[in-house]
Amino acid sequence: MNIIAAADVAWGIGLKGDLLYHIPEDMRFFREMTKGKTVIMGRATLESFPNGDPLPNRRNIVISRTASEIPGVEICKSPKEAAELVKGEDSNDVFVIGGESIYRDMLPYCDTAYITRIEAKSEADRYLVNFDEMPEWEIVRRSPMYAHNGLCFKFVTYKKKDC
Ligand SMILES: NC(=O)c1ccc[n+]([C@@H]2O[C@H](COP(=O)([O-])OP(=O)(O)OC[C@H]3O[C@@H](n4cnc5c(N)ncnc54)[C@H](OP(=O)(O)O)[C@@H]3O)[C@@H](O)[C@H]2O)c1
Repeated sequence: MNIIAAADVAWGIGLKGDLLYHIPEDMRFFREMTKGKTVIMGRATLESFPNGDPLPNRRNIVISRTASEIPGVEICKSPKEAAELVKGEDSNDVFVIGGESIYRDMLPYCDTAYITRIEAKSEADRYLVNFDEMPEWEIVRRSPMYAHNGLCFKFVTYKKKDC
């Protein structure tokens, strides 16, 4: 299973229900990577999308203790239940897309993390785990540095060792 996220230098990922940065190349990367695949997210991340709609052309799984029925969405009561639900799928085709606690709680099920590292630091109230501080994870790919409106970023792939 994969994690996909955009994090700044302090591993900040969100503020007040929104992303910290809006970088079209990062959005395109996210779309390309997850198109036709399964995405797993927390209820607040779903609500952060336009109209709170699920992502088109993907299997949308939302983890929530409170949600009952949402059109186009499969609801799970826990991260464990979400992991059970995707057991029959190729795990390379399953992406955990946030937010903070879902990244943390689904981490044990993941072996690859696609992280857009943004060379900036903004006020944040949601954070990703720091992959550089976890010895069981290593960087296997680092793109060149790109820039958008003066904001520098790169695409970094981490893999869990011996996976
Ligand atoms: N930079 C990025 O790549 C990225 C990606 C995604 C999101 N974000 C940002 O992160 C923020 C949203 O994320 P968030 O961390 O606030 O919320 P979230 O993880 O998306 O959703 C939190 C909700 O998920 C459910 N949940 C979480 N853990 C659960 C568990 N163990 N069992 C059952 N349900 C569980 C609960 O829903 P109920 O209350 O319904 O029970 C909880 O209120 C926004 O600012 C968003 O823009 C950033």
